[in-house]
Amino acid sequence: MFASVRSLAATAVALLALPTLSAAETVKIGAAFSLTGNAAAYGAQQKAGVQAAIDDVNKSGKLKGITLELVLEDDATSKEQGIAVFQRFINRDKVSAIIGPTLSTTATAADPLAQQARTPVVPVSNTAPKGITDIGDYVWRVSLTEAQVIPSALKVAQAKIGFKNAAILYGNDDAFTKGGFDVMKASLEAAGIPIVDIQTFATKDRDFNAQLTALKAKNPDFLMVSALVEQAAAIVSQARQLGWNVPIMGGNGFNSPKLMANAGPAAEGVMVGTAWNKASADPVNQAFIAGQKARGNDPDQFCAQAYTGVLVIADAIAQAGMKGGREDIKAGFAKVKDLPTPLGKFSFLPSRDGNHAAAVQVVKNGKFEILQ
Ligand code: ALA
Repeated sequence: MFASVRSLAATAVALLALPTLSAAETVKIGAAFSLTGNAAAYGAQQKAGVQAAIDDVNKSGKLKGITLELVLEDDATSKEQGIAVFQRFINRDKVSAIIGPTLSTTATAADPLAQQARTPVVPVSNTAPKGITDIGDYVWRVSLTEAQVIPSALKVAQAKIGFKNAAILYGNDDAFTKGGFDVMKASLEAAGIPIVDIQTFATKDRDFNAQLTALKAKNPDFLMVSALVEQAAAIVSQARQLGWNVPIMGGNGFNSPKLMANAGPAAEGVMVGTAWNKASADPVNQAFIAGQKARGNDPDQFCAQAYTGVLVIADAIAQAGMKGGREDIKAGFAKVKDLPTPLGKFSFLPSRDGNHAAAVQVVKNGKFEILQ
């Protein structure tokens, strides 16, 4: 009798000494998106994507007893706010991984904090070809870079239009718009297409008439624009107001319906390379779209990428043997392979950049349509 009471007590003590039972384990994921400021059109879609993905993963039972918990904050489209949010995620909330921030420019300031604190970061919209995964081995990027999308998009456009020369307009004070320009220039040069003029602007600019008038005077067959969507919509509108109907291809910043919302019919025919093939019949993509529609959202590329970011983190936790610590997730990323996502089968390259198929879309009747 005495012995059995003692062994019962020992069992109880042993149970109490266990960390947390896996059935109650919660893994916190921080998401820093531009919910206000110049990039807010992207942030709204990213928020919708991560919220749905967290719910879907939790409901799926994929992580057995682990529940993902979202901590969402506004990076306010600013480096300073991005840094402040990352500090809170790392030190106060003790998140296991961070998704975001929205802009590459913000990431160049915030991601080094996470790297130093050995906290995994998953960029889901940073497309600057350089200066993101270079920050360090805790940065695992889901978003395809401009260098992974623009060269093939340019080929598709040239096959459709057959232009003989081109011009470029780009923002020269932002990591993504500058990086996108570098890729556009290199891609045109590699394709043997002469560049007849290059013009620049700053993110705060709203009037692009001087640059557009100078470009129009050179009469290029094709215009490439590296801009965030607020500036992109103004550029497209103002070009058409000048009576200039040159075919336009944008960089990744154009992948938002805000382009059509702001530019209206002026956006018709604008092309853009994209990381998300919205027309894909893949069941994972179709389920993602149906899920967004059920929540009252018409998803865009930014939403699909943010959703995928959560799936990738969840898979890393599973790959790490259902462990959700910072080091576990980092180790798990290396094992993510051909993961089914709305972007297609997803893996990481050795550079820790995402690897999956890209597509090209064109604005038709106010909507993006995939160019086949
Ligand atoms: N693709 C944009 C960036 O990297 C949003 O900043």
